[in-house]
This record gives sequence, structure tokens and C-alpha cells, in this order.
Amino acid sequence: MSLRLGDIAPDFEQDSTDGKIRFHEWLGSSWGVLFSHPKDFTPVCTTELGYTARLQKEFEKRNVKVLAVSVDDVESHKRWSSDITETQGYAVNFPILGDPDRKVAKLYDMIHPNANDTLTVRSVFIVDPNKKIRTVITYPASTGRNFDEILRVIDSLQLTDKYTVATPVNWKFGEDVIIPPSVQDPEVIKQKYPKGFKALKPYLRVTPQPNH
Ligand code: BEZ
Repeated sequence: MSLRLGDIAPDFEQDSTDGKIRFHEWLGSSWGVLFSHPKDFTPVCTTELGYTARLQKEFEKRNVKVLAVSVDDVESHKRWSSDITETQGYAVNFPILGDPDRKVAKLYDMIHPNANDTLTVRSVFIVDPNKKIRTVITYPASTGRNFDEILRVIDSLQLTDKYTVATPVNWKFGEDVIIPPSVQDPEVIKQKYPKGFKALKPYLRVTPQPNH
């Protein structure tokens, strides 16, 4: 059965470009992004890994560790990494799991046989410090992902874990957020949203981002 939001991210031990990784232990108290790419030495994957390396400081700021995986082996990842540096201008600064036995790909249902029966699709799992899966995204091999969007989702998750708010369409850090309809008590509203709010409809109330 495929993994769902709120499930505990399956633990595994697998070799990587940084040596053996025990996933849960490696995550420690960090958030994690585990993402698969179909194959080494392919164009779209090369751009994705280069861009993720470029965003490394942004992931660190948010206490997020990034881990890539494909069914190629670690030696192949290491050889490919120099092409990524050369063509994308950023050296891969996060581990890439070798998964030739497809242990991780199977655990996370990253091979979709009706798309391709051997290669992983472009899966993304965002995992919180309690090891719970908080986001699942799946893209086809022919479409490179938007890693700025992954950061945006992490910003939303971290904000909404801390404050009783939700984030609207295309929200970016610093913009107004939504007061959930479940919050109705005027005293609670005053205490939780000291910056005030605007009610466009009784169920659609916006307030400035509490921590910005
Ligand atoms: C790519 O990364 O360019 C790619 C990989 C597998 C299938 C199609 C494209």
C-alpha cells in the first residue's frame, strides 16, 4: 500500500555518497526531504540536483536535511556528481542514496510500473522531526520539479505547526494567512491573532503572518 500523510516514514539502511545511512538516525531532530530521480547522467535530473545544491543554505535555515535516491549505485552517483558541478555551477552537498537493490524505491513506492517498470518516478517526501510524512509529491520523469515550491511547503508546514493558521493559494513567507473556521471564540481570536483580522466572508478571515 502506498504511504499516506501522517504515516511514519519507513526506516532503512542504505549506502550513499556520504557512506551508510540509517534514515531515522541520520534525520535526528531535523526535518527531511527524501526525493527520487529516475536515473543518473540524464538531463532533467542533472538540473534538479544542481538546483537543490544551490538551495542548500535555504534548507539548512529551516532545519531540513535533503537526501536524493535513484536505482543507480553510489559509484555512478559519484561519477555523475562532477557533471552536475560542471554544468550547474553547484557541487552536490547532500547525500545521494545508491539503491540498485530497490530497497528504498520499494519501501516508498517510487517505481510506478505503468509509467516505467524499472526507474523511479520523481517522488518527494517531506518528513517532520517526529518522522511523520507530511507531504507527498509525485512528478513524471519528463517534468523537472520546482524545488522553490518544496521550500514553500516546508515554510507552510513549519508555520502551521506553530500557529493556528492555514496558508492560502500561492502563499509565500511573510504574506497574510488564514484563520481556520474552527476558531470562533472572540477571546481566543484576540489572543491568537493580536494583529487583527479581515473577514471577507464569515469562513474566510485573513490575518498578518503571526511571526513576521
Ligand atoms: C531526465 O532526467 O532527463 C530523464 C530521466 C528519465 C527519463 C526522462 C528524462
